[in-house]
Amino acid sequence: MLKVDDSTLPEIEAADIRTYLATQENKTLLRFLTCGSVDDGKSTLIGRLLFDTKLIFEDQLSALEQDSRKHGTTGEDIDFALLVDGLEAERQQGITIDVAYRFFSTPLRKFIVADTPGHEQYTRNMATGASTADLAIVLVDARQGILRQTRRHSMIASLLGIRHIVLAVNKIDLVDFDEAIFNDIVAEYESFAKDLGFTSMVPIPMSARYGDNVTRASEKTPWYSGPSLLDHLETVDVEAEARERPFRFPVQYVNRPNLDFRGFAGTVASGTVAVGDDVVVAKSGKRSRVKRIASYGGDKARAVEGEAVTLLLEDEIEVSRGNMLVAPEARPHVADQLAANVVWFDEHPLLPGRMYLLRTETDEVNATVSHLKHRININNFAHEAAKCLNLNEVGVCNFSLQAPIAFDAFQDDRTTGAFVLIDRLTNATVGAGMMLYPLRRAANIHWQALDVSKNSRAELKHQKPAVLWFTGLSGSGKSTVANLLEKKLHAAGRHTYILDGDNVRHGLNRDLGFTEEDRVENIRRVAEVARLMADAGLIVLVSFISPFRAERRMARDLMAQDEFVEVFVDTPFEECARRDPKGLYARALKGEIKNFTGVDSPYEEPERADVHLKTVGRAPEDLADELETWMRERGYC
Ligand code: ADX
Repeated sequence: MLKVDDSTLPEIEAADIRTYLATQENKTLLRFLTCGSVDDGKSTLIGRLLFDTKLIFEDQLSALEQDSRKHGTTGEDIDFALLVDGLEAERQQGITIDVAYRFFSTPLRKFIVADTPGHEQYTRNMATGASTADLAIVLVDARQGILRQTRRHSMIASLLGIRHIVLAVNKIDLVDFDEAIFNDIVAEYESFAKDLGFTSMVPIPMSARYGDNVTRASEKTPWYSGPSLLDHLETVDVEAEARERPFRFPVQYVNRPNLDFRGFAGTVASGTVAVGDDVVVAKSGKRSRVKRIASYGGDKARAVEGEAVTLLLEDEIEVSRGNMLVAPEARPHVADQLAANVVWFDEHPLLPGRMYLLRTETDEVNATVSHLKHRININNFAHEAAKCLNLNEVGVCNFSLQAPIAFDAFQDDRTTGAFVLIDRLTNATVGAGMMLYPLRRAANIHWQALDVSKNSRAELKHQKPAVLWFTGLSGSGKSTVANLLEKKLHAAGRHTYILDGDNVRHGLNRDLGFTEEDRVENIRRVAEVARLMADAGLIVLVSFISPFRAERRMARDLMAQDEFVEVFVDTPFEECARRDPKGLYARALKGEIKNFTGVDSPYEEPERADVHLKTVGRAPEDLADELETWMRERGYC
């Protein structure tokens, strides 16, 4: 490699280099993404941008020429999409399958572009790319006009807080650079997008393949007087909103290498902070003042949005990971119930009542959708009634959290107003959320402290509260064993109660059927009732099929440590069907009962039940004895 000796450079050049580096440093950054349907030409457009701004190196270019010939999609011309579509697999399939980020810069600005897939099932990747972008280029094929995908992507861009849109009417060469076609597409898009809250929407007729209006004005569209794409990207002002935001500092971890140093490390999510500023801990409201701002390169007087620093405060106050340091005069919401928009990514639907992990920038908490208010039809924005959200659907949900979190409305702050939902069993990210507002009803209801405690209630009964949770197929023997056990406990002077699926479904849960979402709600309610009964000091026997692991785990998490005992009443399907005490299996197998457990609705066996009762060949009394012994040995009775 060539080594340049600075001292040999003429004075003037060294100064130039310094100026050059300084302008590089001061250049603003624009993050944008491209979205559109398969074949709209997203990858070609980015390839063209890079090529025309001379950002392709020679060796890449010759490889590209060879590839273009090999894949032969553009005849003798260079196929720019090949430059961008890095993965061989997607070239074969002809679609882009993951978010690809590229960096480039012009004399005026630096850019990060997320190239996102256009295939319908990849909404998730689009959302990933959009979550940090300031601007979206929505590509439309001039021959096709606005498609379902165009609407979906614009809607998601809007939901994810993008306020600047370029409507790239591409392949204009294929419609003979026709102004009327362009105008029609723009009019249709404008009428559709008027409610999406975009602050700027710039339509540009272009041909990514031939470069018309990409980096310079095209002679073939004399009727178009607007900017080329690059002109617009270089000049659009996307920072106006950012300048006004209040200080937000989600604490990533508490840095305490020794007794003299206690710093809070994190990245400034928005606003600025300076030494001497007053700050408040969002959740507790405790106030202090910034003593030092430490950073990798030494102490600083000020830190701004995006900077990773460690803040030291004047007072010893409690701030743990997940909490936020904020400007005292503009505080975030702190609540354990809130409304949010949700984009669902998972094959398995979002079910109200099911518990998910809700993760914000640094905080996480168990959360359930207490009410799915409506689904949003992405074609016409209609609010539609829905019981669940399926893959790629968008809805407005009320959430109920196990503990309060600090957050902003997403429209005020895209960092502190965003979250993801995580499946607690698989750890997969299953949805993305944008906070709307806290639910005031939560703020006005406080837990009423009572003088007679759970312990004193239980002591009076000379027992330890417990929830024995019987799970198993219909007809497996849950109720029979629970009934026998209760008789034994009762005879021994224990205070008990049985919650039985069939019985509870006659009253409290009379409104519920056997769909997946109804079963989730069925179990959520009975788990809450069991918790109240345990709080009353009782030994509760719950006998419900409770077919899903997620809800059994939720029930366990509701109870105190060691209070929940999962009893798997393990009877094979064939045996239950043979016994068929209520004649339901015969009917279900004939197709007369829908969603029957084990037939056309799943049963997820426990992986680690506390007690595993294999019933085949054993008398119910015997099983009840075994359970009673198990309980006695562990001090439950
Ligand atoms: S759960 O799946 O939601 O936990 P639950 O225990 O409340 O079910 O109710 C199950 C009882 O409802 C069964 O024992 C059976 O008597 C009756 N039942 C009626 N239809 C069905 C069905 N489709 N699937 C399972 N059980 C059914």
